[in-house]
Amino acid sequence: MITKVGLRINGENREGIVRMADTLLDTLQDQFDLTGAKRGCENGDCGSCTVLIDGWPMKSCITLTVEAAGKKITTIEGLQGSLVQKAFMDKWAFQCGYCTPGFIMNCHALVNIHPDANDKVIEEWLESNICRCTSYQEIREAVRSVLQKKGEM
Ligand code: FES
Ligand code: FES
Repeated sequence: MITKVGLRINGENREGIVRMADTLLDTLQDQFDLTGAKRGCENGDCGSCTVLIDGWPMKSCITLTVEAAGKKITTIEGLQGSLVQKAFMDKWAFQCGYCTPGFIMNCHALVNIHPDANDKVIEEWLESNICRCTSYQEIREAVRSVLQKKGEM
């Protein structure tokens, strides 16, 4: 079955024609040309496809597009110039970069939801994303530097 769906993506109202079984990842990539969320495991384990839905990190490969209708969706394209994106660059928190959009989305939500996050909380949040080639140390440092900056604001 095919249906029309209204989505609010990165602050813009968009309309898509989707099958009930289409994932949000499919729709973002195929209909809206938003390719920043990456296709990895496609079963909810790696986090490379992470987007924010109403501010919470969600795996877009296991979220149906119809479930996201009417909600506020943020993709990596909507976080250009964000503190977390800058911190990842400053701390060299990437190597090949394939996992990086997903990590940035997750870390952006983390610093917003837990502005006082300690190392244990950071560790727990980072468990939802997998990086195969860089050290998680730089990613932790990037998150800590944003938390510190936000604390000084
Ligand atoms: S591609 Fe979605 S969690 Fe791996
Ligand atoms: S930087 Fe290559 S998978 Fe994370």
